[in-house]
Amino acid sequence: MASPQTGLVIVANRLPVRRVENDDGETTWVTSPGGLVSAVAPTMEASPGSAWVGWAGDTDGTTDPPFELDGLRLVPVGLTEAEKGRHYDGMSNGTLWPLYHDKIAPSEYHRSWWDGYKLINQRFAEAAAAESPEGATVWVHDYQLQLVPGMLRELRPDLRIGYFLHIPFPPPELFYQLPWREEITKGILGADLIGFQTPDGAGNFHRLAVSLGLASRDGRSMLDIDGRKIRVRTYPIGIDVDRYDSGSRRPEITEAARDLRARLGQPHRVILGVDRLDYTKGIDVRLRAFGELLADGHVHPAQVAYVQVAEPSRDQVGAYQDLRSRVERLVGEINGDFGRVGFPVVHYLHQTRGFDELLALYRVADLMLVTPFRDGMNLVAKEYVASRYDDSGVLVLSEFAGAAHQLREAIRVNPYDIAGVKAAIRHGLEISPEEARVRMKALRRIVKRSDATSWASGFLDDLTV
Ligand code: G6P
Repeated sequence: MASPQTGLVIVANRLPVRRVENDDGETTWVTSPGGLVSAVAPTMEASPGSAWVGWAGDTDGTTDPPFELDGLRLVPVGLTEAEKGRHYDGMSNGTLWPLYHDKIAPSEYHRSWWDGYKLINQRFAEAAAAESPEGATVWVHDYQLQLVPGMLRELRPDLRIGYFLHIPFPPPELFYQLPWREEITKGILGADLIGFQTPDGAGNFHRLAVSLGLASRDGRSMLDIDGRKIRVRTYPIGIDVDRYDSGSRRPEITEAARDLRARLGQPHRVILGVDRLDYTKGIDVRLRAFGELLADGHVHPAQVAYVQVAEPSRDQVGAYQDLRSRVERLVGEINGDFGRVGFPVVHYLHQTRGFDELLALYRVADLMLVTPFRDGMNLVAKEYVASRYDDSGVLVLSEFAGAAHQLREAIRVNPYDIAGVKAAIRHGLEISPEEARVRMKALRRIVKRSDATSWASGFLDDLTV
């Protein structure tokens, strides 16, 4: 854990909770475990005055009062349906998300979305300002809230402000398209420490701030605005390794994995993909490569089962709806061409699966395909590795995932090169157990070394010195 602070206030688009209905029909909150919450919770609990400011996902326009859950003070920020449309579906996921992911889908620029983005960022900044004790540390997260550091500095110059971007930061040449490029850059520059997943992201931002004339260069990882120093550094995010490692060793998970393999028809090999249904993830390229391998006869449909979990995501955004149709057509084509009664070749789940089922899937998967066209980090790759406690299993990983900077022993692919993806899948299916073990051992060493806790304390320690 990082050293205790004078209050640590986390500001993230989502609160780490969800509403559930209990047996009496009342709605209550439960924490949704995730890398970020497990990484910062110990420091928050040890730092009086800590809080987490975020959106609970509701759109009825009401704002629930702050409440305590599992030792954390949670401060909801409410949105109406129209505000969600402009801030979340619009500017965040219709403009910034595609722009920051190489414009794999077109990025739309609408002034009304921008107005909504400013309004909601202001709301978050005011909530964070109201929650922060004198001299507190505030850590702002991700692309939905890039104006918050600057707004917060205006409201509360006494605070230490950190900002971390979980997704890639694009090259300035692409970022320049954004009509509000100066405002966004200035917003981020309100922070004292700015963190990115990879050196490319940090370098792109550093170059951008200087080229827009908003800050001057002070060495490779520092910027200067009228004598105020801003550090720009790389902090690759990790996962709660123990949760996956010890979780997957439980006898009921071993049993569930055995049961899954039986239900899949005892195939020689199980291939797995687990993603949010997002066009950045390369689900379609994987399916096309797999379909071609079946058609070429390099993969036999009775010997291999492919399970693809595609978690529903951002389904009000057009590009996500288009992707869903594309993916489901491909699944239908492959099963139509190669399935047998009772034995589809692709097992497709457009659902969010629970933690235990996810672990059983990671345990049953001989080959894990992680083939994004662009990804900030990709935690699924790390979760799979953390679950392979017996050093078995093979990871195929895109060069364009942030995780590729660390997970060098994976079988690497360029997801734009379909022949290369096919070759990587074949390599993964035919690999010798010795080669697989050597690779997995090395991957596990890296995943364990840079877990969620060390990521958070690395960032917070730098922010507070
Ligand atoms: C990415 C983003 C997060 C986001 C998550 C889920 O990992 O970096 O900020 O919370 O996707 O997306 P959603 O739109 O459901 O919050």
